[in-house]
Amino acid sequence: MTSATGPTHRRVGCVWWDDRVPDTQPAPGPVPLVVDTDPGIDDALALLLALASPEVDLRLVTTVHGNVDLAQTTENALRVLHLAGRSDVPVAVGARSSLAVPQARRAGHVHGAAGLGGVVLPPSPAAVDPRPAVVALAELLLSSERPVTVAAIGPLTNIALLLAVYPDAAARIGRLVVMGGSATRGGNVTAAAEFNVWADPEAAAVVFAAGLPTVLVGLDVTLPTVLTEAGIARFAAAGPVGAQAAAMLQQYLDHARTSYGTDGVVVHDALALTEAIVPGTLRTVPRDVVVDTGPGAGRGQTLVDRRTPSSSPTAVAVAEGVDSDAAVEFLVNRLERLAAQG
Ligand code: RIB
Ligand code: CA
Repeated sequence: MTSATGPTHRRVGCVWWDDRVPDTQPAPGPVPLVVDTDPGIDDALALLLALASPEVDLRLVTTVHGNVDLAQTTENALRVLHLAGRSDVPVAVGARSSLAVPQARRAGHVHGAAGLGGVVLPPSPAAVDPRPAVVALAELLLSSERPVTVAAIGPLTNIALLLAVYPDAAARIGRLVVMGGSATRGGNVTAAAEFNVWADPEAAAVVFAAGLPTVLVGLDVTLPTVLTEAGIARFAAAGPVGAQAAAMLQQYLDHARTSYGTDGVVVHDALALTEAIVPGTLRTVPRDVVVDTGPGAGRGQTLVDRRTPSSSPTAVAVAEGVDSDAAVEFLVNRLERLAAQG
């Protein structure tokens, strides 16, 4: 094990091990999972992927502002869980706005005004959890007998608030898998910034400096990972859940063609969930990551120090390599299986 001030990562072959993650073998059975999310089309796919994966037990969904307003992200989370027959999963409502500066604009032009590509899913019979998201998350972390994986696939406002209000609970996070940032691929909402970090740069800065066992799944690995129409057609044909997922993706497909020139969709959040479900899916390197929280053109940029792997206690495992074909096949296969369950 490493000392408190010693390196936090060690290289074993071509893999970097994060020594902050308990190296005791987890007890058998699915890993407790929380998804913090701003549905969002790719968020919806990521939630369905989590529900299709026996490796994890989705214990809580926390919602955050982002792609669309908080009320809509929350309603969308409830409806996606209901679509998959899992309205039993609690949904706790989180932050309505960024920590310091309100987000300049939403992403309705990408995800549709209501956030699910124009698809209206049946309403869920479930009500939201009465606890605020940070309370629900803290109680889960403090009561769980096993390390909990938290997948944060929207702006990091809720995670920053957890660190501020319940630091002891935050310290119990087993793995924090973040969809966000960019080391080498510039931005997708501005020339410099990826959307989740841009939406709340101050929150991202707090989270990346906290020393949590964090994996950063940024544009470097999500942009090359393209879900084609052929893949979409496979789960669309497998059953009603797949058909609804495919319907949501149509708008995303059009946006991807015009924005990225790709013949398919970049399902950013689903790749982050794949890493959360199967640790080591992505090749990561410990890096020092800082966020530009200034008011200028670089606001929300993640500045990743790639000169050398970091031995800092606050190093972030930045995803720098991906087998995109394998990741897409994993997603399609899991969604096919979920859809086939009816
Ligand atoms: O940059 C991609 C991220 O921004 C994804 O999480 C997508 O859902 C949007 O929130
Ligand atoms: Ca998202």
